[in-house]
Amino acid sequence: MSTEILLNGRFVPAEEATISVLDRGFQFAESVYEVIRVYRGRPFEMHRHLRRLRTSLELAGINLGADGVDRLVSQSLELLQRSGLQEAAIYFQISSGTAPRSHLAPDELSPTIIAMVSPASPPSDELREQGIKVITLSDGRWAQCYIKTTMLLPNTAARQRAAEAGCRDALFIRDDFLMESTAGNSFVVFGDTLWTPPASNYILHGITREIVLELAAANGIPCIQGPIPANRLYGADELFITGTVTELLPVTTVDGKPVGSGQPGPMYARLHELYRRYTQGE
Ligand SMILES: Cc1ncc(COP(=O)(O)O)c(C=O)c1O
Repeated sequence: MSTEILLNGRFVPAEEATISVLDRGFQFAESVYEVIRVYRGRPFEMHRHLRRLRTSLELAGINLGADGVDRLVSQSLELLQRSGLQEAAIYFQISSGTAPRSHLAPDELSPTIIAMVSPASPPSDELREQGIKVITLSDGRWAQCYIKTTMLLPNTAARQRAAEAGCRDALFIRDDFLMESTAGNSFVVFGDTLWTPPASNYILHGITREIVLELAAANGIPCIQGPIPANRLYGADELFITGTVTELLPVTTVDGKPVGSGQPGPMYARLHELYRRYTQGE
């Protein structure tokens, strides 16, 4: 974590960055966030993250004013510079603000805005080479998973259950269809075709997902955004998850059964390399 945190426009030492227990983010999870990867000192695809942040803010009913997001961006870029980090993640979190506890918020609320910069923590090479084990779990989340809110109890609880089962992650299944993992989007390979669940309200519309789809299209990889029945997972040739910090990570075991050969497959290897080059501007 950065030694400094941007809190409501001020650079504050992390241990002094405190907010009220009456903050509605703490009381009601009325709070949205973003995570932006920094490669070689440069924020990656910032504009896409800001587009999603603006959507999340609007859907959460949080108003930062006309230039609120722009101000947050320029201040967070200063925070990044002050951190001295080249390989990093920028974290934004915005809650609706502090008020006496009541479900109905008062008309006048001043949002609580924070930004943090931390060293990037991508998965190890070993993990990428081996792939990860996952379990499938029934998706107990709400119906607006496309809002990037900090209301992540179902996600953290699922991750805990996965860990207890000796796995790295869990895949959410809703009404017998694959959705996404606890913190990433899902891609499945059948034959030469890449599949990913459609960008509905039941998944987060991941920036990494978006880029992988563009890279697949640009490189002639057949790709379908369509429903994936959970019972077809065990017969998949490959499976991988995507996320800003995770990038692309192969899944080699689902519910104790090997995926395809049980090793990361060629489609993953190809797309991961294309993605890596894209992040490096190559
Ligand atoms: C539930 C969920 N799905 C998907 C993603 C991937 O989104 P992105 O690629 O924008 O990081 C995340 C990332 O935090 C997530 O939490």
